[in-house]
Amino acid sequence: MVCLGNICRSPMAEGILKSKLDDTIFFVDSAGTGSWHVGNKPDERSIAVTKAHQIDISNQRARQFSYQDFKNFDHIFVMDQSNKKNVLRLAKTQEDQNKVHLILEELSTKSTMNVPDPYYDTEQGFKIVYEMLNKACDCIANRI
Ligand code: 4NP
Repeated sequence: MVCLGNICRSPMAEGILKSKLDDTIFFVDSAGTGSWHVGNKPDERSIAVTKAHQIDISNQRARQFSYQDFKNFDHIFVMDQSNKKNVLRLAKTQEDQNKVHLILEELSTKSTMNVPDPYYDTEQGFKIVYEMLNKACDCIANRI
């Protein structure tokens, strides 16, 4: 799960998808394309909205996406077109490129392809993002 800062959207996506998959079979992680927040906890608003759904993401720490992630993961879900561009910039092969998908492409009823960045938004923005990610992660969990 990849976003820009790895403190708002992708930590939620990581926690939500983990809650739907067997952790003895699937390894789910998240990262940001930027390095500003490396080592930081998720945004308190992300922690709160996931906690309201019995998902604890408070132990996560932000890290930056790196080329090694193409080797370590089978699927790379990005939150928006900008994340996609930044991740694809690091890809070396067609196989690397094929792993990268906008997370909302998972939804058949897609109204928008980008998960909006809620960083400068209100708590309501975080709730909307949670609902989008929850639906997308249901589709991912069913598919894989
Ligand atoms: P995220 O949100 O990409 O969903 O983690 C952001 C968090 C921080 C910043 C931008 C987006 N920032 O500019 O610091």
